[in-house]
Amino acid sequence: MKVTVIGLGYLGATHAVAMAELGHEVIGIEPDSKKLESLAAGILPFHEPGLDAALPKAISSGKLTFQSEHNENSASADLHFICVGTPQTKGSDAADTTYVVAAAKELAKWIKPTAVVAGKSTVPVGTAATLKTAMTEIAGFEVHLAWNPEFLREGTALEDSLKPDRIVVGTWSQHSVDVLREVYAPILATGTPFLELDVPTAELVKVAANAFLATKISFINAMAEVAEVSGADAVALARAIGYDERIGNKFLRTGIGFGGGCLPKDIRGFVARAEELGVGSAVDFLKDVDAVNLRRRDKVVELAKSELGSLTGKAVTMLGISFKPDSDDLRDSPALEISQRLTALGAKVTVHDPVSLTPLATRSPELYREEDLLKAATGANLVILGTEWKHYREIDPIEFGKVVSTKTIIDGRNVLDVPKWQAAGWRVIALGRNVHNG
Ligand code: UDX
Repeated sequence: MKVTVIGLGYLGATHAVAMAELGHEVIGIEPDSKKLESLAAGILPFHEPGLDAALPKAISSGKLTFQSEHNENSASADLHFICVGTPQTKGSDAADTTYVVAAAKELAKWIKPTAVVAGKSTVPVGTAATLKTAMTEIAGFEVHLAWNPEFLREGTALEDSLKPDRIVVGTWSQHSVDVLREVYAPILATGTPFLELDVPTAELVKVAANAFLATKISFINAMAEVAEVSGADAVALARAIGYDERIGNKFLRTGIGFGGGCLPKDIRGFVARAEELGVGSAVDFLKDVDAVNLRRRDKVVELAKSELGSLTGKAVTMLGISFKPDSDDLRDSPALEISQRLTALGAKVTVHDPVSLTPLATRSPELYREEDLLKAATGANLVILGTEWKHYREIDPIEFGKVVSTKTIIDGRNVLDVPKWQAAGWRVIALGRNVHNG
């Protein structure tokens, strides 16, 4: 099938490569010339394991081409995926749909009547209906618009696209269902559930899923707050409640909380949309979910102050700065915010991260960057583990302890072997747990 993928960020670039892997003829459309040039040269402009190798393969197979805007070639496609971003609006919690609206309106000038448009971006419920009206007016015929949310996670994006738990489509026409079934046929052949829904439900599925995941993380982080003052251990608690299949043990990792380009802005956008619809109280609890999450960052800043006294001139080493491992995404990263706040309080923060130091240089140049792990920790008065890269689990605490000034580490992700670190003379402050010795 001939398809276009409009907007080549994390979502679009991954989807374009995935569609090429399924054997479709894919045209990636991206107005940002820097991003476009990089992708066309086969170089991913961000870190994503597996996708880096799959991109040049898709290009050399001839299945994936790129262009900066629509033309006669892309206009003949049978299916158009809209994958542009919906960031948080500046100065408000609402999702900014400007780019989705612009992409849909531009597409409407080119689209052929039989083509299907599948929105994949995360949008406030009700957006698709507005887009359909606008597109139909511009095109001069009723546009087959569908909503087809994407659930990929950074770090495993391509795998998630090719082997999703389910494919969700919200449609207004049988034709849209048929075309989407056809494009995903190889995935459906493996038994993947295909859920045909109405459009508002499909729009809601994505935000509801992200809200649920965020709630799970904040639930266990709320328990961590209680554990910290009652002598309990939130990691053991999570394991114990997780054995109950109704609860499950996933997404109950306590620590400095969630970040990234999706969970934080999606829960805020959801609250804003519900308020617009007059049902703000229905999802009011998501404000608490957000607050619990942000309080974990405060907690680390407070711990640093209580460990170091005045932060002025103190050397702090941050292990990991991306919002999660296997990603160089710094959007709303808890480790980044903590580093910035400690710097503002006078500390000299040196960051180590396996892949994120280059984007960090632009994003937060006031932070010191060091590629060598031992050099990054040399002379540290405090070490904080901010992202659970596997590299940090493998650190030898004895060797590591030889370079720091003070053997104190805050394990912000609860991944260290605490007894082993304590045996090497470290004071380990693990969030949600009461282990400090050393
Ligand atoms: C998320 C959703 O998982 C995905 O389905 C959606 O398509 C996009 O948003 P992603 O942003 O890649 O994906 O990150 P995710 O793996 O969900 O992790 C989000 C954040 O929560 C990370 O900062 C992670 O460190 C944190 N997290 C995750 C926890 O603090 N505890 C956990 O138990 C799980």
